[in-house]
Amino acid sequence: MRLVVLTGAGISAESGVPTFRDAGGLWEGHRVEDVATPEAFARDPDTVQRFYDARRRAAVLAEPNPAHDALARLEGELGDDLLVVTQNVDDLHERAGSRRVVHMHGDLFTALCNACGARKPIAGELIDRPPCPECGERMLRPDVVWFGEMPYELDLIEETLFTCDTFAAIGTSGAVYPAAGFVMTAAEAGAHTVELNLAASDITPLFDEVRHGAASLVVPEWVDEVLAAHA
Ligand code: APR
Repeated sequence: MRLVVLTGAGISAESGVPTFRDAGGLWEGHRVEDVATPEAFARDPDTVQRFYDARRRAAVLAEPNPAHDALARLEGELGDDLLVVTQNVDDLHERAGSRRVVHMHGDLFTALCNACGARKPIAGELIDRPPCPECGERMLRPDVVWFGEMPYELDLIEETLFTCDTFAAIGTSGAVYPAAGFVMTAAEAGAHTVELNLAASDITPLFDEVRHGAASLVVPEWVDEVLAAHA
């Protein structure tokens, strides 16, 4: 059994981390063009730095929920046969104990240097313009993949999708590619596909199986079934 699990903002919603497109979501309070593009950063870096500094402070206060815990438990049983690919930039998967996690949209807790390209853990707030630990330049930006930029680790992700026999998507609206297309890649490779989401998403019709409900309820239930079938 080889599994790929894609997660989105919905898996962290019950941990108090806002999603993007739901009522009260991040994109209601902020324009993507002002905080999530390279052009926005070039035009007004302070607004962008403050936005991610605030998200980082909030993420520190959040705790993993039963959905994160269940995936860590699944990894405990399946080891290298499970890969979690997350669109999230929080560290709740790792704080729940997951190790095999690919952050395809970057990480709130690392900074990317626009001078030397180094990606280093963040100390303090980026609004204060700390120097890059590698080159000393004060050109650090959030290590988050913005609209128009290439996600991380696409080759590894695609390779794993081609060989998985089960693909699950948890808490994602399917509004953003290439992540929204992973279900088709997995299905073409013959995998069984399942969506676990609070409500129907833009890609629900593409899945073999659909389970709608809060992640903290439907994910542990699904993991129990997967483990029972694996035993
Ligand atoms: N349990 C399960 N699913 C939930 C829950 C919950 N408690 N709460 C919300 N959801 C679902 C919503 O129904 C929605 O389909 O999670 C999804 C969240 O969708 P988005 O806010 O669009 O987040 P996501 O799909 O992760 O966004 C993708 O877009 O803005 C960019 O880079 C950003 O990684 C992000 C990408």
